[in-house]
Amino acid sequence: MGKKILVIGAGGREHAVAHALAQSPSVETVFCAPGNPGMSGDGIHIVDLAQSNHAALISFAQSNEIDWVFVGPEVPLIEGIVDDFEDAGIPAFGPSKAAAQIEGSKDFAKRLMMRHSIPTAAYQTFDQEESAQAYVRSHGAPIVVKADGLAAGKGVTVALTIDDAMKALDDIFIENRFGQAGARVVIEDFLEGQEFSLMSFVRGSEVWPMPIAQDHKRAYDDDLGPNTGGMGAYSPVPQIPDSMVAEAIETIVKPTAQAMVDEGYPFTGVLYAGLIATADGPKVIEFNARFGDPETQVVLPRLTSDFADGISAILSDGDPEFTWNTSGATLGVVLASEGYPDHVVKGAIIPEIPNGDGLHTYYAGVANSHVGMVASSGRVLLVEATRPSLQEAQEAVYGLIEDLPTEGMFYRHDIGAKALK
Ligand code: AMP
Ligand code: GLY
Repeated sequence: MGKKILVIGAGGREHAVAHALAQSPSVETVFCAPGNPGMSGDGIHIVDLAQSNHAALISFAQSNEIDWVFVGPEVPLIEGIVDDFEDAGIPAFGPSKAAAQIEGSKDFAKRLMMRHSIPTAAYQTFDQEESAQAYVRSHGAPIVVKADGLAAGKGVTVALTIDDAMKALDDIFIENRFGQAGARVVIEDFLEGQEFSLMSFVRGSEVWPMPIAQDHKRAYDDDLGPNTGGMGAYSPVPQIPDSMVAEAIETIVKPTAQAMVDEGYPFTGVLYAGLIATADGPKVIEFNARFGDPETQVVLPRLTSDFADGISAILSDGDPEFTWNTSGATLGVVLASEGYPDHVVKGAIIPEIPNGDGLHTYYAGVANSHVGMVASSGRVLLVEATRPSLQEAQEAVYGLIEDLPTEGMFYRHDIGAKALK
């Protein structure tokens, strides 16, 4: 009997995870709750249960004899879904509630890094606007203002002037833009350099790093416009030297996993390090307690070993094996609803997009309607290509998208440009 696996989440990341799991000969069925209708085309079984309803998910897993659960998004992790599954005797891949704090609180992550000398921007935390304003005035710009808790990638302002920083503080303390998340603010030094995402499978102090990717966080071409969850990504990132990645593994990933063990919050799952390659080496801008979105959609297609076997081995204290395609390249472009991230206009009609020939579409914010599949939130889908080179991958994705009817949606035209200059 093959394995039955339940993936929790609904986005493009979960589509990519479920699709990769379904490739395994040892897997019989992949369920995804709540999933989205775009996943069905890949043979993934959609389960209409909310990711916040832990009791219903546990009972589904029990009655369907699920072997183990893969948790995609941060919110259920931070709410303790892995602890709840484990209490019910069901193995779940992802960090405990205590370990997920590394993403759930920027202040927690910053303190951990400071205690263990893990390279990151210097910072201070404030819960009063006046003291935060005084710090900004004495420090000067550029400076970075971050709401403490989860804000779906939108709680960060890179302020180029003192005025911009003051506006960000007003948003957080007076307008309460981030609600609970903004009750506290982290203010940190501006770091200069290219960003890259280094994700690793982690079990306690053991780490298995993946190939790096580069996300595009701003909404519009040339890194203009507001911060988003991510508008596209590619892998590898040739302008980041291997020595920078090796240094990041030694000075950031391994010591962070060890620090979590030493402090009593051992981390199992995917640790995502958002890094800046500075003149002084790699430094942390954020940790996430899960796969990145859209990084997953370009990193998992490079996995050449059996994904389900690798996760099973981590969960059963075995010896996981992860091997990667080191010669090819992947690139993915997000189609987003008009107005994303601030004033999303839903309802765009999703065109038929062919898969195959190294091209794959991962669906996110889509829903069924009487006119077929329509856009139901900000990030709608991502088109990914795997090719021998980044340039060919870029040409393949844009070649496909430019011929699609994309009314009501927009996308960046420069995904991968930093690598191809
Ligand atoms: P975060 O939500 O922490 O990933 O921040 C969102 C974006 O803000 C990052 O992807 C960076 O582009 C930028 N950013 C965050 N922190 C810094 C920093 N200390 N220096 C420069 N840019 C930053
Ligand atoms: N792409 C950034 C993230 O997943 O947080």
